[in-house]
Amino acid sequence: MQRSIPTDLILGGATAAYQIEGAAAEDGRRPSIWDAFARVPGAVIDGHTGDVACDHYHRMPDDVALMRQLGLQSYRFSTSWARVCPDGGAPNPAGLDFYSRLVDELLDAGILPWLTLYHWDLPQSLEEAGGWPSRDTAHRFVDYALAVHEKLGDRVENWTTLNEPWCSSFLSYIAGAHAPGRQSVADGLAAGHHLLLAHGMAVQALRDAGAERLGITLNFTVADPVDPANPSDVDAARRIDEQYNRFFVDPILRGSYPETLLADVGHLGLDAVVQDGDLEIIGSPIDVLGVNYYHGDACSFEPPPEPMLQDAPTDRPIRSPFPAADGVQIHPRGLPTTTMGWEVQPEGLTRLLRRLHDDYAGPKGVELWVTENGAAYDDRVELADGTGDAVTGEPRIHDAERVEFLRLHVGAVLDAIDAGVPVKGYFYWSLMDNYEWAWGYHKRFGIVRVDYDTQERTVKDSGLELARMIRERTL
Ligand code: FCB
Repeated sequence: MQRSIPTDLILGGATAAYQIEGAAAEDGRRPSIWDAFARVPGAVIDGHTGDVACDHYHRMPDDVALMRQLGLQSYRFSTSWARVCPDGGAPNPAGLDFYSRLVDELLDAGILPWLTLYHWDLPQSLEEAGGWPSRDTAHRFVDYALAVHEKLGDRVENWTTLNEPWCSSFLSYIAGAHAPGRQSVADGLAAGHHLLLAHGMAVQALRDAGAERLGITLNFTVADPVDPANPSDVDAARRIDEQYNRFFVDPILRGSYPETLLADVGHLGLDAVVQDGDLEIIGSPIDVLGVNYYHGDACSFEPPPEPMLQDAPTDRPIRSPFPAADGVQIHPRGLPTTTMGWEVQPEGLTRLLRRLHDDYAGPKGVELWVTENGAAYDDRVELADGTGDAVTGEPRIHDAERVEFLRLHVGAVLDAIDAGVPVKGYFYWSLMDNYEWAWGYHKRFGIVRVDYDTQERTVKDSGLELARMIRERTL
């Protein structure tokens, strides 16, 4: 049965600065922690860096033209701190100018700009001064946020402080899987708290500067016990839920860390950094909660029948990202997986949106937007020599699995809407293939293919399908 897509559900695509821009040393940009980390031997597969990436910095007008051709209603992008405030210092007019031109192009194309201030690219000099475990970094973030707002506040309505602070704290400072690659529980907890503080302080400062729609994007899992009747599995799922989801969403929307979480991690370094008044700042009212969802996790302390691939197989050893979940194991459920090894679990998105609405966003009148959801698959390009599109001779990418993934997850959003959750938007990750962090260029999430030799863009079938959904408003 054909379902209709409500006309007020905004559909768009997402990217992030370091993953697409390239031009790493141009117009005054200085290194970020990702420029440095990518050069650590064994940290990123094949030593790939974002030096060139999708060369979006030079191709931006064409990329916006492509978005217009697809009919995207909104585009979620991030600004690069290292471009706007090189070395975390004074604003760089050339860096700001790039984003100003991007916003103008988007508005000209009738595309709503959805701006994120921090998608993991801390200036390297701020890392050298202490990084996120240092409270001062939160103050530097506010300076940077205000510099961006001063330039773009007249044209950008939607302001997101941070993308996925779980990744930029626990995955980056505890697991060491992402930049800057530290492996310390205390540093990870301090980083997490200071990222939350940076968010709250920036919300207050931007609101004072006149911004009206403010929010944050968090990544969520749906942690289920392997056996709901087994108390040990239930405890495993609680730990993952608290140390992935609730560490971030509770302080923001309920003004406190959960008691059970504090009992597990307070003495590991969190208590030492929380100061009086911090939680009031972190809980400053917001307007939008961005929800990133890829898959859930079936949790147990028992070993799984076969291990699940969860991280990039880099040469540099990494640790568990969780501060107090030693021994928790993630079990496969026999669901289909993407080439990231992630299970395809659309019903998890519906459940997640219902929970966030009921327990967090709804009571506060905060809007829910799915700001990321997507899948990596090994796409095959079919060429004009008989393997290509018979009619046009153009290269075609029949990414049937991604088309299905997209349809299933938009369907899961519609299920949540039918259940009374007023979801306002859905951004597919990603508009184009790009630098997938520790995986380098080995994973392709785009609805547009990027040929990294020629920088040629080719719309995949999934891009055509998203365009169709937007045009026809049907699933
Ligand atoms: C998210 C990140 C995004 C991208 C996707 C696949 O965690 O926010 O940059 O890498 O995963």
